[in-house]
Amino acid sequence: MTQPLLSLRNVEKHFGTVRAVDGFSLDIQENEFFALLGASGSGKTTLLRMLAGFETLTGGEILLDGKDISQVPPNRRPVNLMFQSYALFPHMSIAQNIAYGLEMEKCSKSEIKRRVGEMLEIIQLSHLAGRKPDQLSGGQRQRVALGRALIKRPRLLLLDEPLGALDKKLRGDMQLELKRLQHEIGITFIIVTHDQEEALVMADRVAILKDGKLLQCATPRDIYEHPNSRYSADFIGVMNFLPATLRQGQVIAANGQPVAAQLPEGLSEGNDVVVAIRPERLQVAAYRGGGGPRGRVLATAYHGLDLQLHLQTNLSSEPITVRLTAQEAEQTALSEGDEVELGWNAKDTRVFAA
Ligand SMILES: Nc1ncnc2c1ncn2[C@@H]1O[C@H](COP(=O)(O)OP(=O)(O)OP(=O)(O)O)[C@@H](O)[C@H]1O
Ligand SMILES: [Mg+2]
Repeated sequence: MTQPLLSLRNVEKHFGTVRAVDGFSLDIQENEFFALLGASGSGKTTLLRMLAGFETLTGGEILLDGKDISQVPPNRRPVNLMFQSYALFPHMSIAQNIAYGLEMEKCSKSEIKRRVGEMLEIIQLSHLAGRKPDQLSGGQRQRVALGRALIKRPRLLLLDEPLGALDKKLRGDMQLELKRLQHEIGITFIIVTHDQEEALVMADRVAILKDGKLLQCATPRDIYEHPNSRYSADFIGVMNFLPATLRQGQVIAANGQPVAAQLPEGLSEGNDVVVAIRPERLQVAAYRGGGGPRGRVLATAYHGLDLQLHLQTNLSSEPITVRLTAQEAEQTALSEGDEVELGWNAKDTRVFAA
């Protein structure tokens, strides 16, 4: 394994009694696209600010290329933090906004000209170089801000909710754009987002933070398929949770029926648990008199490629969501009020302590 670009070792940041970052370790590789996810107040911004050098550490260390950078001031770190609100200079043209960082570094005129030209190509705004920020769309301004952050060639770019101000469609475009840029320039990105879908689309790996603690760090697929806690399971994508109890080696639903589930380690007889199962892992068919899990269709919701069914079942008081592909939906032809049988494979479940 090559040396990681960044190693966080037991990093901590306390503000008085608040443990904003509560002692965890994490390696980030060169060229990774890494996403930080977590509820408001979970410590995401604090962590970025520590990496950028704007917060001193209460404990632990941050290594870049294996060297402790705790004492290195922000402007000496090969790190750039792009803020939630990316204030561009309104009186300067796009090209001047992008050139600003290099001018501060006293680069030569010819070098600035060349590098700004290259950056404008990369962010695909060469044709608008002479415009002022208020003559651009939201997505274009976003790209200028990126250009300004990237021109100094940081090893590490930190982005705090970079797409937060954009509407849904533009957000989708910019997600792809960011990925393209990262690929093209080949630098490491750490991005903070509230939007779990965004993290799944863009990131090589995702970290889920809760109350300053690192709950899980894995590829989007792994977090989706193998969440390590109820919190992770709930955080990414849609998840059904069935309350149940462990009895005699079986998982017993609230209605007293045993249900298919993967028996977890570390939980014992009599424990209250939840069985987590994804909507697309459930199978439904019209009710034919079976004695297993059953329910009634409360509502159907058409989502273009798939159909979501909301079921009231005999397993829990909470409705369950089932996702059918267009083809499955056509075959089963279920609609509101229909009685259904419900099934799933034990291997597609996760069981967590309740
Ligand atoms: N300068 C500070 N002084 C005291 N407490 C702070 C300070 N900065 C952050 N905190 C606290 O630390 C915790 C983490 O804050 P942080 O800004 O890192 O959260 P976040 O995950 O970025 O949240 P959001 O998604 O709302 O931006 C919060 O409880 C916050 O109130
Ligand atoms: Mg924040």
